Amino acid sequence: MMKITTVLLALSASIASAVDPDLLGLESLTQDLIRVESVREIKNVQRTYAQLAQHGRWNEMADLFTENGILRWGRGNGDILSTSDASSVTGRPAIEAWLRQEAGDMDGVKPGSLHVFMSDMPVITLSDDGNTAKGRWTALRKLGNGNGATRIEGGIFENEYASGGGKWKISLLRYYPLYAGNYEKGWKNLGVNGSLPVIPYHYTLEQAGVTLLHTERANLSQQENSTLNRRSTPAKLSVDELEYRVAHLNEEDEVRNLVHGMGYYVDRRMWPDVISLFTSNGTITVQNNTSPAGPAGIQSVLSRMGPEGLSHGILNEHPIFGTVVNVSPDHKTAIARGLEIGLIGDANARIGQWQFCVFHHSLVKDLDTGTWKIQDLRYHRLLFADYAGGWGNGGILPASSLAPPPVLSPYYHSSPTENRRPAQWRPFFKRYPEWEEPEESTTSRLANVHRFLLRSSAYDESENTSGSYGFYIDDIRCSDFAKLHSDRGHKLSPGIGWYYTPDAISLSCASRYYRQNSTAYNPSMASLRSSVPFHWRLQPVILVSRDGRSATLRTRNLQTGTSRTQGGNGWMGGMYHDQLVLEGGKRKLWSITIDEFYWNSRNWTAGWANVAPVSSTTPPKRWLTNKPTNKRQSNDLPPDVSLRHPALLERETGFNGGPPPTVSWPGVQRMWWAYRNLVTGAIPSDNSYWGPPGCVPCRGAKPEWALTANGYQEPPSGPTAVTAKWLSGAEIEVTVRGGPEESAEGGWVQLVLDFAGEITKFGQEGPVGADGKVVLLVRGPGAFGTTIPIQVYYFGNENLKPGKGILGGST
Ligand SMILES: *[C@@H]1O[C@H](CO)[C@@H](O)[C@H](O)[C@H]1NC(C)=O
Ligand SMILES: *[C@@H]1O[C@H](CO)[C@@H](O)[C@H](O)[C@H]1NC(C)=O
Ligand SMILES: *[C@@H]1O[C@H](CO)[C@@H](O)[C@H](O)[C@H]1NC(C)=O
Ligand SMILES: *[C@@H]1O[C@H](CO)[C@@H](O)[C@H](O)[C@H]1NC(C)=O
Ligand SMILES: *[C@@H]1O[C@H](CO)[C@@H](O)[C@H](O)[C@H]1NC(C)=O
Ligand SMILES: *[C@@H]1O[C@H](CO)[C@@H](O)[C@H](O)[C@H]1NC(C)=O
Ligand SMILES: *[C@@H]1O[C@H](CO)[C@@H](O)[C@H](O)[C@H]1NC(C)=O
Ligand SMILES: *[C@@H]1O[C@H](CO)[C@@H](O)[C@H](O)[C@H]1NC(C)=O
Repeated sequence: MMKITTVLLALSASIASAVDPDLLGLESLTQDLIRVESVREIKNVQRTYAQLAQHGRWNEMADLFTENGILRWGRGNGDILSTSDASSVTGRPAIEAWLRQEAGDMDGVKPGSLHVFMSDMPVITLSDDGNTAKGRWTALRKLGNGNGATRIEGGIFENEYASGGGKWKISLLRYYPLYAGNYEKGWKNLGVNGSLPVIPYHYTLEQAGVTLLHTERANLSQQENSTLNRRSTPAKLSVDELEYRVAHLNEEDEVRNLVHGMGYYVDRRMWPDVISLFTSNGTITVQNNTSPAGPAGIQSVLSRMGPEGLSHGILNEHPIFGTVVNVSPDHKTAIARGLEIGLIGDANARIGQWQFCVFHHSLVKDLDTGTWKIQDLRYHRLLFADYAGGWGNGGILPASSLAPPPVLSPYYHSSPTENRRPAQWRPFFKRYPEWEEPEESTTSRLANVHRFLLRSSAYDESENTSGSYGFYIDDIRCSDFAKLHSDRGHKLSPGIGWYYTPDAISLSCASRYYRQNSTAYNPSMASLRSSVPFHWRLQPVILVSRDGRSATLRTRNLQTGTSRTQGGNGWMGGMYHDQLVLEGGKRKLWSITIDEFYWNSRNWTAGWANVAPVSSTTPPKRWLTNKPTNKRQSNDLPPDVSLRHPALLERETGFNGGPPPTVSWPGVQRMWWAYRNLVTGAIPSDNSYWGPPGCVPCRGAKPEWALTANGYQEPPSGPTAVTAKWLSGAEIEVTVRGGPEESAEGGWVQLVLDFAGEITKFGQEGPVGADGKVVLLVRGPGAFGTTIPIQVYYFGNENLKPGKGILGGST
């Protein structure tokens, strides 16, 4: 095989020098790789647990436990927070029996029954030796027996995991129930006298956000660092194996983003955008009925959900929970499975519907462009129900369309294991062609491995910090969630504006929620609360910078709450647009913007389709402890940037507190995107695009808050489009395009021919100019018998990802 020359070593060299070269040995990179793989496997184990529960597969659920695994359900057993008796069972047979008995006839198997298991927002803390872990999850189950009986149960998991024999298992599943009820009346607090305690956290603020990678921990303070130990039994993988396994993680990130990103288009019925994510012969399969292949067939299925776009009073919300991604060993196909819940409504007609589906999507890598695409969206319906009637009686779909239970592929763990690397696998064919560099030393290959590993650990670390933030804000721990921010970070306080620095963030929270001039966490306010607001930060789309040190995060805010009264708590939906950075060995929040609320329920009983229009002056209802809502704003600190800043007029119009007129559900508020279409690279069709900079106030109001003004890279906002055309028999013009304000300049372009796996460099190579183009001279194209397509690689720059295009044979 011929090797390819590139001159793009400068960027990776500068990254390499930032990290102690001793840390970039095979041994420490192997350890760090295994740490990232471990965190993913732990999440997959927990997600698989929830997925199995939906089909009553108790035996397989019990198999997810260690041999002496323990399941504790409820409080009690001398626990100081005891409000109910705990069940505690040990060992797989006992756990299986307990699970079966606890579900009763609400097992998801009996016709008409339902056992929906929502669980997400993981905060996983891996021990320093990498052999055990703890994880906090938020959870909610919706159950029914098909004969009218229903249960709703919500709470928090604080679990423990152990690795043995190359597999992660649950060693302790510990569930703390917080609220419960039934469909008819809704839920209420479970605590003593209707008050709820704070569920103990397995992590401290000092630990929050600590990077997974030992290679990145050198900058932690002495104190934080002192307890960190290396894995006791180090293994060493080869450079080839490291490259392969890191690429595997990177591919998984792309697939997860695509599936999650697709969901947001579905919510808004952006049908052309949904279709653009498919292959040209893609399909949608519902209950084994596969649509005709191609855009028209996909459109026909989508049209059944309704016309393109949302009009007044239409809700088409489809939050996605617990996605597990499995990329094939050759990195050409992938499966993504999880739970999708439809919150459907027409407020004009006052009708709402629940839709519970498991999905099992197939994706393929488009080898011409290097991007993942959807091949088949596959849904299995668990149950559909009218909001008014509920899910207790088996729902509204004919029983014949629900049985037999879904045939899902085996539940597997996705962590790569030894010897999976296909012999012919080479990094060059993957997304990141800059990997293969001919005279490149082991040192520079390892520096690349480190950089690509950092991109995937950035994904998990961002999800993790996002979850930590979610749990702290649920408990209204102002000072703690403020300190998850960078010293130069900022956060939007909905309805008001952005506050800069953790101190201001904390003070603004305390003055809003506790009406006090103090940044301290106030346990007396939070330890026994009459209500808790739950922020489900779900369905992340995480775009990571070239160097892995910064990330842009979109995540849903699916909000509900609990209180002393049944039926008082409904649902609300909003969106977070965040950025995170690696700072001093911790993944910290850089920027938080919250767009809320797009829709809401009046209360549980009335649902989202029975909401009367509100006047634009009425402040939104919030679940606050003992707080009158009407005086809230008078206590707020003046923000550093107001929602009404002139530069943000267009961005914030319609949101509560932004420039009027406020758009309140059942009105339909504009939805914003910080990234481009993840397949085509196009900006959203209605121009609701804000980024880069992905930080909302940075455009116009506070350019000095932007990542790039602070020594960080701005993550690319989408794929890089590479096209090429013949100018003459001897010249090819290549055009490279990112998003607005994302210049391709300086990135290197190279042409290659692929003779059945034998790679040959072709013609000149060179850097893209300021106009996004480069003309390359091709010497003697005839010699190559140019019926073979020419592959055009763009190696990326600080703004843009690498990209790939194809040019047909010569003129
Ligand atoms: C619950 O309420 C009763 C009656 O008001 C009171 O005596 C008791 O102390 C309360 N318990 C707790 C744990 O607050
Ligand atoms: C997640 O956060 C916890 C606590 O905030 C921290 O201990 C842990 O190292 C983080 N783990 C990952 C995967 O980032
Ligand atoms: C550690 O800090 C130094 C100096 O602040 C910085 O140059 C370097 O990039 C940091 N390294 C890491 C791994 O964060
Ligand atoms: C933190 O620990 C690493 C090794 O795990 C070491 O290289 C580094 O110097 C330590 N940093 C500090 C500030 O102690
Ligand atoms: C879709 O097209 C690809 C490429 O032509 C082909 O390999 C694949 O079998 C087709 N898949 C389906 C489901 O038709
Ligand atoms: C769906 O197809 C599979 C085989 O592809 C079959 O085993 C299963 O019974 C079918 N399910 C339904 C609901 O028809
Ligand atoms: C809070 O109190 C301190 C000390 O009394 C005072 O200096 C500070 O200005 C106050 N902050 C606000 C926002 O009122
Ligand atoms: C829910 O809202 C409806 C309509 O405003 C009202 O009639 C009902 O009493 C409310 N239910 C609860 C439990 O608050």
